[in-house]
Amino acid sequence: MNVLVDGARVQARPGQTVAGLLLSRGQVSWRSTRRGGRPRGVFCGIGVCFDCLVVVNGIADVRACQRVLEDGDEVRTQRGAELPS
Ligand code: FES
Repeated sequence: MNVLVDGARVQARPGQTVAGLLLSRGQVSWRSTRRGGRPRGVFCGIGVCFDCLVVVNGIADVRACQRVLEDGDEVRTQRGAELPS
């Protein structure tokens, strides 16, 4: 199946998570912190830490380690978090 990652067409496997796809492409960070712009990617891998946030189909704060890709998804990297801090 095909998805878009920051505008680039990428092949994904059925059942693959966003984080799994990004890691398989050698990408270890895809979010930057609101303060300091420090890189973040997978930390816990089980949906607890919220470090892996991405924008999927225009919806921010999606946990990349939990979101299973669907054909045609559009994934964008994210700065900070939309969640209240
Ligand atoms: S890596 Fe911790 S919530 Fe996704």
